[in-house]
Amino acid sequence: AKKPVTVTLTGAGGQIGYALLFRIASGALLGPETPVRLHLLEIPQGLRAAEGAALELQDSAFPLLAGVEVTDDAHAAFSGANLGLLVGARPRTAGMERAELLQANGGIFGPQGAAINAAAADDIRVVVVGNPANTNALIASAHAPDVPAERFTALTRLDHNRALGQLAVATDTPVADIRGVTIWGNHSASQFPDLAHATAAGDAIPALLSARLGHEGYREWLAGEFIPRVAKRGAEIIEVRGSSSVASAAAATIDHVRDWVQGTPDGWTSAAVVSDGSYGVPEGLVSSFPVESVDGGWRIVQGLAIDEFARHRIDASVAELVDEREQVRSLGLI
Ligand code: NAI
Repeated sequence: AKKPVTVTLTGAGGQIGYALLFRIASGALLGPETPVRLHLLEIPQGLRAAEGAALELQDSAFPLLAGVEVTDDAHAAFSGANLGLLVGARPRTAGMERAELLQANGGIFGPQGAAINAAAADDIRVVVVGNPANTNALIASAHAPDVPAERFTALTRLDHNRALGQLAVATDTPVADIRGVTIWGNHSASQFPDLAHATAAGDAIPALLSARLGHEGYREWLAGEFIPRVAKRGAEIIEVRGSSSVASAAAATIDHVRDWVQGTPDGWTSAAVVSDGSYGVPEGLVSSFPVESVDGGWRIVQGLAIDEFARHRIDASVAELVDEREQVRSLGLI
């Protein structure tokens, strides 16, 4: 039998945690051959909820589940961790300034980064889901100097999947036949969902939609409908469902880690990874790119043509990340 993989989930007593746990334990994350050991990290107020989820995991009798531990101690939670899913975060409350939000999350992701540095397995890979995800990943990475920065990522796969869903409808193509979509920049309303290179069943989507809507009609749809719909989908879900995205966020987290570990099946996907300067994104920022997973690591897809429209939008979202980095620097969080 294969050795169990240790997965540490923070915010395990929360909504996304509840949606994630059962899929991890059922094998959706690491495949049907790999046993998993779960370490659930919560703050004291969240422990009972996490313990309750642990009882239900036991009641589900998942054959792959090799053990569950619940703790409010970050060092214990990350001890021996191969994968860290950092979901728990401090939400923005009414009237909260951005600096306060960054400060509060720095108080979470700094110590968790340090605990990862001290206690995790050598092959630790981290995805940050808790918002502001990109900058939280930057903070955690800064506190884990012994872990390569490439191992700290943030989730933009939900944005990517949202774009796929919109394009499947717009082109009347099954979602599985859409390729070449990219989310650039920050997981925020400034993100740029880019379909300049996207195809539907092999046909270029911009050409396909320009033929249907006319060139002007296509540009209007792109800037006035597609991009804002994807970027503001979170708010739309809250309005319609009366609660934030949970199951789709968990599904995207599973997709991100599964592809990272097992390889991207076909073409590229989107993930926020540390920039090496590609596409003019300043080195060291955790920014969303087109990525392929090769030998267990993300590789930024190179050589895509960036037109003026895309350049402008990538730059705007990256400027927001630069600003967040400056703020966390001046707060002494990195
Ligand atoms: P939730 O409020 O239901 O759960 C969060 C849990 O984290 C709570 O149980 C809380 O006690 C726990 N927590 C807080 N601080 C912690 C710490 N220091 N250590 C361990 N646990 C801690 O929220 P939900 O719906 O599960 O969302 C979680 C996060 O995911 C939010 O920040 C949300 O904005 C973000 N999110 C990100 C998405 C993305 O695409 N990147 C999509 C959807 C949500």
